[in-house]
Amino acid sequence: MRLQKYMAHAGAASRRKSEEMILEGRVKVNNNIVTELGFKVDEYKDRVYLDGRRLTLVKDSIYVMLNKPLGIVSTVSDEKDRKTVVDLIETDRRIYPVGRLDIDTTGLILLTDDGDITNKLMHPSKEIKKTYIATVDGTPNKRELQILRNGIKVGRETFAPAEVSILKNFENDSIIKVTIHEGRNHQVKIMFDRINHPVKKLKRISVGEIELGGLEIGNYRFLNKEEVKYLKSLK
Ligand code: URA
Repeated sequence: MRLQKYMAHAGAASRRKSEEMILEGRVKVNNNIVTELGFKVDEYKDRVYLDGRRLTLVKDSIYVMLNKPLGIVSTVSDEKDRKTVVDLIETDRRIYPVGRLDIDTTGLILLTDDGDITNKLMHPSKEIKKTYIATVDGTPNKRELQILRNGIKVGRETFAPAEVSILKNFENDSIIKVTIHEGRNHQVKIMFDRINHPVKKLKRISVGEIELGGLEIGNYRFLNKEEVKYLKSLK
């Protein structure tokens, strides 16, 4: 990156003004004063100083959605050396997953290096809706679905009312759309265990207004402008 561009991106001054500062001998790269306009700096290795003060690049955060495959853990690193969601994303940024999906759950997981947005998405008071498609054993009847719609007590905790609807049923199992706004460990599995229709397969399809859409399993993409705008609009 050209030195004046680096300075502008670090918020020192406009590019024109930065050029003047370079010509005035006010800018050092590592230990040397540089007066050459267009001098190339390595944004990762070089240190740039203006009037002796270090400049650092102001970087936008990154926001990625991954369709998590089976067998991948939702952490940054794993003590058993299993593959993590972060291993699937090619980036030199220090990103981490927003919340967790079980190792045997697939679907939408967001990754970012934006701590503020992560806190907002995770904070219980925000009640961000998460929607899952669950394949469960057998077909729950109306009374059983109502139990989940009323909310359940699990030990000392209460799981808030869930939205549940049967999308399809087969001879041995059914496909159910489930929306919850909490993120307790194994929440959906515990809910269906409670009504004796254990979850066989689980996939998350949305988090708030962010939808997995047609993203193939194991693939990822950067969020688009609208999606980032939505995340930043969370108060
Ligand atoms: N509920 C679960 O049981 N597992 C998940 O991975 C997510 C929600």
